[in-house]
Amino acid sequence: MSLIITLVLLFGTTQTQRTTPDIMMQYFQRQLQQLEGRMAKCEQDFQQFGQKMYDVFKEIHGQTNKMNVLRSEVKGHVDTVAMRLDRVERDVEYLQNNIPEAAHVEIEDSLLEHQVKEAKLKKTAVFTKDKECSSMLTGIKSLKIVKKAGDTTGSWMKDPTKGSAKIYFFSGTTNNTLLAYASLKTFTDYNSTKKTEVIRLPLPWYGTGHAIYSGFVYYHLADTNNEILKVHLSNRTVTDRLLLPGAGRMPAYSLNTNTLLDLAVDEMGLWSIHADPDFGGNLVITKLDHNSLAVEHTWDTNCNSRNAEASFMICGVLYVVYNSDYGGRSSIQCVFDIHDTIYTESTAKVFFPKRYTSHSALCYHPKDKQLYAWDDGYQTIYKLDMKKVTST
Ligand SMILES: *[C@@H]1O[C@H](CO)[C@@H](O)[C@H](O)[C@H]1NC(C)=O
Ligand SMILES: *[C@@H]1O[C@H](CO)[C@@H](O)[C@H](O)[C@H]1NC(C)=O
Ligand SMILES: *[C@@H]1O[C@H](CO)[C@@H](O)[C@H](O)[C@H]1NC(C)=O
Repeated sequence: MSLIITLVLLFGTTQTQRTTPDIMMQYFQRQLQQLEGRMAKCEQDFQQFGQKMYDVFKEIHGQTNKMNVLRSEVKGHVDTVAMRLDRVERDVEYLQNNIPEAAHVEIEDSLLEHQVKEAKLKKTAVFTKDKECSSMLTGIKSLKIVKKAGDTTGSWMKDPTKGSAKIYFFSGTTNNTLLAYASLKTFTDYNSTKKTEVIRLPLPWYGTGHAIYSGFVYYHLADTNNEILKVHLSNRTVTDRLLLPGAGRMPAYSLNTNTLLDLAVDEMGLWSIHADPDFGGNLVITKLDHNSLAVEHTWDTNCNSRNAEASFMICGVLYVVYNSDYGGRSSIQCVFDIHDTIYTESTAKVFFPKRYTSHSALCYHPKDKQLYAWDDGYQTIYKLDMKKVTST
């Protein structure tokens, strides 16, 4: 605007005298130079601004990357939490389904009799379970070494079937053979070799986690990560197989590296115990249906496999036995109760009698309330101290 006014004034006042083009040109050049200067300044400013913007974008980009890393971390955590939550929900569901409640139900008269009968059956079933399973382990009463036979590692057990006194003997960590004896007396007899029944299985076992249950042997099939076999003891036919999901990727107990899957029997039936590397090496217990070999339910426990040597189940409670690398005094230091009736945190450490060796297997017998232990090649029986648990 000022430029135009100046020009008008310039032309207006000097109209009569002819203004030389030189003066005009000088004037315009000066103006142009000023404009150019301003433009240059402006461009410089703009460049600086661009650089700043670039820096800001770079910063934002960096932050976004960080955010993405954080977000995936958080997502990972959320996923884990969601998985655990899912398992907890399934636990609750399982327990609710397995603890029948006295719910109010309206029923047809014709069905009444049947329902009452069923309810009575259910009640007696629950009662028997309670009667059998109201105790928890409080200590080891006594130790009896009954024999020294076989390898330094192995396992042995008494048949938990009602009325059976048979003893089964698995020496070493892999074989297709196991030995059976009619009774503990036959087993401990010096002249027992003649009375030994040699059972040759169609496929070899691995580890020390075998179980005997109502006429069948259950074991981890050698050269597999997680395959469990169920074999009929009298005709040695494989009746069922199970690939236990997620199992067999690390030893169940860090002090017994040959056992990837540990099978156990208690008052509730057949169990499998393994350690999960995705869960920090904590133990995972699985209730198996001994008839179909199907998975009934799985629990993540708070018990770690580090420095553990063996474990066993009593009434749905997992007792984990720890030791040290050099073989020391074994003690139960972690307890996990699927029913949550035992205050596991307040349970005092249970020590095994002083022997300073290590166990390669501990098999609980639900009727004897005894542990059949393989203690560095010595077949040992532990009598257990039990206490009644008052239900909360
Ligand atoms: C398998 O077990 C039998 C009987 O206990 C034993 O004689 C044999 O040496 C074992 N084999 C291996 C490879 O340990
Ligand atoms: C083992 O059996 C033989 C004969 O079968 C007998 O002579 C020996 O005394 C028995 N040993 C023991 C410790 O019972
Ligand atoms: C093995 O024995 C069981 C029980 O006696 C029987 O049910 C099964 O059919 C037998 N299997 C074979 C292949 O003989």
